[in-house]
Amino acid sequence: MDRRDFLKAGSMATVGTYLTGTTKTFLMAAPVAEPAKPVAANDHIQIALIGAGGQGQGDTRLAAMMPGVKVVAAADCYNGCLERAKELWGKDILATRDYNEILARKDIDAVVIGTPDHWHMQASVDAMNAGKDVYCEKPMIHVYSDGPKIIDTWRKTNRIMQVGSQGVSSIIYAKAKELLAAGAIGELNMVNVWYDRNSAQGAWQYTVPYDASTTTCDWPRWLGTAPKIAFNPEHFFQWRKWKAYGSGVAGDLFVHLFSGVHMITDTIGPTRAMATGGLRFWKDGRDAPDVMMALYDYDKGFNLAVRTNFVDGGSESMGFVFVGSEGSMTVSPSELTLSRVPREQEPGYRVDPFAEHIQKRMLEIYHQKYPTTHPTGPSLVAEERHVAPPGYSEHYDHVKIWIDAIRSRQPVFEDPVFGFRAAGAALLSNVSYYSGQMARWDAEEMKLLS
Ligand SMILES: NC(=O)c1ccc[n+]([C@@H]2O[C@H](COP(=O)([O-])OP(=O)(O)OC[C@H]3O[C@@H](n4cnc5c(N)ncnc54)[C@H](O)[C@@H]3O)[C@@H](O)[C@H]2O)c1
Repeated sequence: MDRRDFLKAGSMATVGTYLTGTTKTFLMAAPVAEPAKPVAANDHIQIALIGAGGQGQGDTRLAAMMPGVKVVAAADCYNGCLERAKELWGKDILATRDYNEILARKDIDAVVIGTPDHWHMQASVDAMNAGKDVYCEKPMIHVYSDGPKIIDTWRKTNRIMQVGSQGVSSIIYAKAKELLAAGAIGELNMVNVWYDRNSAQGAWQYTVPYDASTTTCDWPRWLGTAPKIAFNPEHFFQWRKWKAYGSGVAGDLFVHLFSGVHMITDTIGPTRAMATGGLRFWKDGRDAPDVMMALYDYDKGFNLAVRTNFVDGGSESMGFVFVGSEGSMTVSPSELTLSRVPREQEPGYRVDPFAEHIQKRMLEIYHQKYPTTHPTGPSLVAEERHVAPPGYSEHYDHVKIWIDAIRSRQPVFEDPVFGFRAAGAALLSNVSYYSGQMARWDAEEMKLLS
């Protein structure tokens, strides 16, 4: 989709309400799209991409759709991605293997960081120290010690830094947050979240280019601080499969779910977690499990169950179910469904085991206290659906929020503190899984507890 399509999707969306049986459906309005107005000359933003792979390209393509934003440079460790960056943003952009060349350029305001996780901390810290605003992909951290380094640099340099779990900018999540806060499901007591897949691509077996070699790939730079091993194209292109560069399903997928839960429930993190799982199917040399599930406690009175199954034997899905005393709410990227089945007002009775004359008398007493009533008025609407407009993209909104903040210097919601708390919560699953113990976390102080 290009920017025009997004705008069209926005303008097509009308707010409608439909009643089908006991379900009321609301078609949500798209957020007002950026008008294609000229931007003042001093409002132009020049950005660069560090880590020009799949997601970095996606983020940067969206940023380039915003008025007054120009992509002027890209850094990557594989020639094929640098060539692609030139195809996308022009042959005159600076394309380099060394991101320091980008950071040295005074005319570059901000960078998108789309490297594998083991480079997130160093690239973010270097970029902010060089005066650049940052959009860093999730998970913000690879290991816990990354968190304070990023947060300290962010505070010291006073830069805008946004982390890339784009769901937190979704209109669906915002609606879920509003409904929950308004008491739509009563007191929240349980949250179930999941990310299930069943395909090779879903399980990170990404295609290795035919020309991958030590000539086309800058392997030492790519490895960075990871253990030094001989060039391995699978590690380079399918890095999520190894803990040295990623953090398994916890860092790749749970982090999106925790970002959503923290945003929707207005919480900062769990107190403890216990995880289990195993490598069940994708036995291709990886050292990360392909099935993982964990249970978490939150101080705010709810428990959370999270899972990923890369062998789910069926359709691929992700979502959230929030369960409360008065109902439940199911949230997916494109819609939310609120179900409310009011608790019975009467206690009911169980008289069967007793002698018939006792049953008879008990029923008389019961109905004196609770006279039989017949339903009156309109039929109960038990379900409410809120559906995003066609073509809606929370990713577009998320990148737009970052670009707006670069101009306004106003804080963003998914800042490094939010990013660390989401990733810190997600990675508790790994701490517990690998230790076989309960993992404990101080969400306020953002510290692992022993
Ligand atoms: N927000 C989302 O929904 C979402 C989706 C996919 C990926 N991601 C995140 O995006 C990041 C990238 O994932 P991907 O799938 O695009 O990976 P990828 O392997 O396709 O791209 C990473 C690129 O970074 C380059 N790189 C590595 N070290 C570098 C360095 N020091 N300097 C410059 N470039 C370097 C690599 O050469 C590679 O091309 C990950 O952190 C991942 O978790 C987020």
